[in-house]
Amino acid sequence: MVLVARSHEKLEALAHELMQRHQVKSQILSRDLSIVGAAQGVVQALEERGIEIELLVNNAGFGARGEFWKLPLDRQSEMLRLNIHALMELTYFLVPAMIAKRRGAIINVSSTAGFQPVPYTTVYGASKAFVTSFSLGLGEELGRYGVKVVTLCPGGTQTNFFAASQYGQKTLPGGLQPAVEVVDAALRKLDRGGGLVVPRFFNKASIFVQRFIPRSWVLKVSADLFRPPDLR
Ligand SMILES: NC(=O)c1ccc[n+]([C@@H]2O[C@H](COP(=O)([O-])OP(=O)(O)OC[C@H]3O[C@@H](n4cnc5c(N)ncnc54)[C@H](OP(=O)(O)O)[C@@H]3O)[C@@H](O)[C@H]2O)c1
Repeated sequence: MVLVARSHEKLEALAHELMQRHQVKSQILSRDLSIVGAAQGVVQALEERGIEIELLVNNAGFGARGEFWKLPLDRQSEMLRLNIHALMELTYFLVPAMIAKRRGAIINVSSTAGFQPVPYTTVYGASKAFVTSFSLGLGEELGRYGVKVVTLCPGGTQTNFFAASQYGQKTLPGGLQPAVEVVDAALRKLDRGGGLVVPRFFNKASIFVQRFIPRSWVLKVSADLFRPPDLR
C-alpha cells in the first residue's frame, strides 16, 4: 500500500494503524498533488522504490463554496489541478504497466455533483463532471486489456470534506453516509468488473428522477443546496 497526501504525520499514523490492525505494510509519500508535475514525481518515487501499482485509487479532491467570480482564482485553479489533472496524469503514467500485465484497476472518486451543474460550487461540480465522463470513457477503452475502472460517485459522506472545502455548516437532504459504506460499494463494484457506482438508494433515486425533470428545475434545486446564506 502506498499512501499519498500532504500531511506527513497523518500518513505516518495511518501507516502505523494499517500495520497494527491489519498487518498491512505501507509506504508513505507526502506530496501536494495540486502542484504541476506532482503526479510524475509520485511515479518517479514509485520506480525508485521498485513498486508496481495494481490498484490506483484517485481520491484526493476538494471543493469551494460561493459565487464563482468572488472565490479566489488561485484556489479554483488549484482545485482543477488536483481534482482533474493529478487524477488524469496518475492514470496516464500508471496504466501502461497494468496493460502490459493485462491486470490492474483504477478507482476514480467522482461525486453525485458531477451529474448536473451545481451553482455556488460550480467549478467543483464541473470538475466532477469531468471525472465521471473521463472515467466511464476510460473504463470502456481499458476493458479489452483486462484493466478495470470504477467510477465512484458518492453523495454527501461523513469525512473532513466540508471543513476542508470551507462549505460552512451544511446540511444536505438525505444526510451524510458513513465513509466505510462508500468504500464497500466501490470494492463490490470492483469485484464485479468495474463500472459506475452511486452508493446509497437516496443518491441513486435523486439522479434517476433528474431524467424526467426539466433541466432548469434541476438547476434551481441544485442552486438552493449551496447558495450562500447572504444571497437567500
Ligand atoms: N465527503 C463528501 O461528501 C464527498 C462526496 C462526494 C465526493 N467526494 C470526493 O471524495 C474524495 C475524498 O474526499 P473526502 O470526502 O474524503 O474529503 P477529505 O476528508 O477532505 O479528504 C481529502 C483527502 O485528500 C487529501 N488531499 C487534499 N488535498 C490534497 C493535495 N493537494 N495533495 C494530496 N492530497 C490531498 C487529504 O489529505 P491532506 O490534507 O493531508 O493532503 C485527504 O486525505 C474527493 O475527491 C471528494 O471530492 C466527497
